[in-house]
Amino acid sequence: MTPQDQKKRKTAEAAIEYIKDARVIGVGTGSTVNHFIDCLIDFKIDIEGAVSSSEGTTQRLKEAGISVLDLNDVDEIKVYIDGADEVDPHKQLIKGGGGALTREKIIADACSQFVCIVDESKMVDTLGAFPLPIEVIPMSRSYVARQVMSRFGGQPEWRENFITDNGNQIIDIHNLDITDPIALEKAINDIPGVITVGLFAIKPADIILIASDNEIKVM
Ligand code: A5P
Repeated sequence: MTPQDQKKRKTAEAAIEYIKDARVIGVGTGSTVNHFIDCLIDFKIDIEGAVSSSEGTTQRLKEAGISVLDLNDVDEIKVYIDGADEVDPHKQLIKGGGGALTREKIIADACSQFVCIVDESKMVDTLGAFPLPIEVIPMSRSYVARQVMSRFGGQPEWRENFITDNGNQIIDIHNLDITDPIALEKAINDIPGVITVGLFAIKPADIILIASDNEIKVM
């Protein structure tokens, strides 16, 4: 395991403490979450099932023998565990590097507690060094890109040869300096054709577990 992978494993292990009383959990997407799924097996966690944020996570959960539940059949998701691409001091996030941002945002909104698991490399003072993903209806891709560029700056790039689990496309906005993440999230949400912007600022994470070499910091 690389040193970064060891930190991902550590933060994933720390998340186990937060799901102890939950019957149904939400499970995000990405390499850190994959460690969390491994921990569910290693710690023999007994849950009724999990609501999954992507086809990739669904497959891994099933391989781990965990029931995957439809959000429509679930009354309450006690805890949602997911990673992030960037985290600021207000627990606001950029997500969607893996392209699962829409289902991730639905579960993050539907859960009672969102526990975000990251290694220290994800911590930033200001969001925007990581390209901001936007899932769009395919016919709106160029229009949304032009709107974002003319109104907020940045350089949009089409994530070519990538289709989301919902059948849509993604544009990544490079070089944004996101000084007001809530305002930007609302404004991009309002552009016709946008399905989801990968800013999680209106509803940030509740808890961030940050792994460094020697410790887990809880924010
Ligand atoms: C998936 O779409 C993303 O939101 C991930 O949560 C994010 O990219 C973190 O992934 P890693 O854990 O692989 O860094």
